[in-house]
Amino acid sequence: MRCDYKNNIMGQEYITKRLPMDGLRGMRTPFYYYDMDLLRATLSEVNRLTAGSVMRVHYAVKANGNPRILSEIRAHGLGADLVSGGEIQAALDAGFHPSDLVFSGVGKTDWEIRFGLAHEIGCLNVESISELEVINELAAEMGTTAHITIRVNPDIDAHTHRYITTGTVDNKFGISLEDLDVAVNLAQSMPHIHLRGLHFHIGSQITQMEPYVLLCETVNRLQDHYEERGIRFEIINVGGGLGIDYDHPDEHPIPDFEAYFGTFKRGLRLRDGQELHFELGRCIVGACGSLISRVTFVKENRSKKFVVLDAGMNDLVRPALYQARHQVQNLTSASVEMETCDVVGPVCESSDVFARDCMLPVTSRGDLMAIRSAGAYGESMSSTYNMRPLPPSVFSDSK
Ligand code: LLP
Repeated sequence: MRCDYKNNIMGQEYITKRLPMDGLRGMRTPFYYYDMDLLRATLSEVNRLTAGSVMRVHYAVKANGNPRILSEIRAHGLGADLVSGGEIQAALDAGFHPSDLVFSGVGKTDWEIRFGLAHEIGCLNVESISELEVINELAAEMGTTAHITIRVNPDIDAHTHRYITTGTVDNKFGISLEDLDVAVNLAQSMPHIHLRGLHFHIGSQITQMEPYVLLCETVNRLQDHYEERGIRFEIINVGGGLGIDYDHPDEHPIPDFEAYFGTFKRGLRLRDGQELHFELGRCIVGACGSLISRVTFVKENRSKKFVVLDAGMNDLVRPALYQARHQVQNLTSASVEMETCDVVGPVCESSDVFARDCMLPVTSRGDLMAIRSAGAYGESMSSTYNMRPLPPSVFSDSK
């Protein structure tokens, strides 16, 4: 039995995924399974739309820092967006060139800043005036210059889950619009700072283009404002956040990058020589990963039927943490009869639920289940809670 995930790219029917059931059946569960053909097709689409332009995509490593995934992304020529010293190291290990690295984060520690400076990374995205001062001091100590952008909090609501919206004044991120002049002037006056541009990131799992249209308007206004003061930036970095279709993973395995990049192409008035940077995570790796698990028990009470998996919230925390919906599929049931059940994990928490009132073919102990669209913020957020081992990963092109 095979599961074919079909997609239509440029008018051709394109099979992006075949879960090789015969190979998977005997494997120890749970584990992450990555469809490397889909990852490559996604990366090719990004490259098709950005090649030969001023657009440059940095992959947000926090979404998935698995070394195999990183090396595939590097091989496709993307840069990397990092939020810790550990991620900088992982990107260097995967062979990214230091100049293709950008380092974000509201709480960079001194050693992380030093580590970035020592490797002469492309850019630090600075989130506060105190951070700017510390970077200038550390760069002076090291006899070097820090290349930076200033992260602006544009006060735009991305209409996404409140835990993953980042661009409003209630969030800890970036420098507010009213403090921006002070930060820009200070950065320009500092001897060990090279101000390369402005950085924005308004949130994650954004499925409407409207917040990005508003972002473009803010960027345009700021560019006009600074140009009047004789300041022109080399880089405009609009962050990431493009969402994926968790409800229909087979219909839209590759996000609508054309609409996304097109929104910025149409909306921004870039100046000559300016580069437009993106930091995309979820939309690159989200669809290519599934968490594969086995049914340990099926149990029933007066009100519900529960399918208990051997994967839990420690393996994939998104449903418990953000009430995120992932499609759950039974890969092995031959039943044509459907039933409603809750799909739960074994962890001792009532929030350890992958899907509530989900329609599945009649499911039995030992069935193999796929929790889809788990490539982003799945493995990278997994933990050993309840002293459970971390889930291993399997790649579609492993020999
Ligand atoms: N740039 C910055 C500064 C970010 O904070 C993030 C994500 C990204 C880029 C990449 O965003 P993406 O393209 O992946 O949406 N764990 C949550 C998502 C947290 C996102 C944090 N920042 C989840 O599972 O939904």
